[in-house]
Amino acid sequence: MATTIIDGRAVAAAVRERIKKSTEEFINRTGITPGLAVVLVGEDPASQVYVRNKHRACGEVGFLSRVYTLPASTTEDELLALIAELNADREIHGILVQLPLPKHISESRVILAIDPKKDVDAFHPQNVGGIMTGDYKFVPCTPAGVMELLAHYGIDPSGKSAVVVGRSNIVGKPQALLLLEKNATVTVCHSRTRDLAAVTRTADILVVAVGRAKMITGDMVKEGAVVIDVGMNRLDDGKLCGDVDFDSVFPVASHITPVPGGVGPMTITMLLCNTLRAAEDAAAKPCH
Ligand code: GUN
Repeated sequence: MATTIIDGRAVAAAVRERIKKSTEEFINRTGITPGLAVVLVGEDPASQVYVRNKHRACGEVGFLSRVYTLPASTTEDELLALIAELNADREIHGILVQLPLPKHISESRVILAIDPKKDVDAFHPQNVGGIMTGDYKFVPCTPAGVMELLAHYGIDPSGKSAVVVGRSNIVGKPQALLLLEKNATVTVCHSRTRDLAAVTRTADILVVAVGRAKMITGDMVKEGAVVIDVGMNRLDDGKLCGDVDFDSVFPVASHITPVPGGVGPMTITMLLCNTLRAAEDAAAKPCH
């Protein structure tokens, strides 16, 4: 059976086109332009690229985008003061503080300070709790992007065995919950998992988010599995590669995401979805 390469760029472009149309209608109807504030503290080069891409994507769908670039020496109090300002700013419907933050700033205190109604990353404990109970407005962008890709390719997780490798708060844990919500039987693997290959070989759907180049090889994958690679690693030669060894997994899988061009383009797309949703909610409840 031929393997399908999941084209994240094409799916992202289609979803962004829909967001652009909905945004135009929303602005015409309400006079409100969805607004996203992105806060970057310090000079991490990867974060600078992500923030630039987010800013550009907002412009392309007709959002207002404000980027706040603060020096690495910014104090936690200064950052919290900016967040309080943005919480009160009626032009801003989504707030995203780019992680990681410099070591002297507590990420959890900063996340807690963001108004949950503007928390388009879905990192605030109130929104995290919503994902646990299935009652949520915002879905964390990367796991949501994975679910969108599965849906687009007609892959229904119901009744399937799904294995998530990685247990981060940003990807692994919420990914497991979203797959569970779609009625998959979910296993989460991590650095202490014994005989990882024996577990990954049980997966009908395998999602890998660990940050180790090419760690999943063809012998660790069941024939016909759907393999989703969330990894983004830079090799010594400067090339990007995922956590999945594409060349050895490709002949075994029924579907596989490439890196780049798989999950990556979906992450910002889902951020745009969350921001539009936040603006729609703010328009529906103007006094909140
Ligand atoms: N750093 C890496 N991924 C993310 C993300 O999805 N959101 C934020 N805020 N920071 C990140």
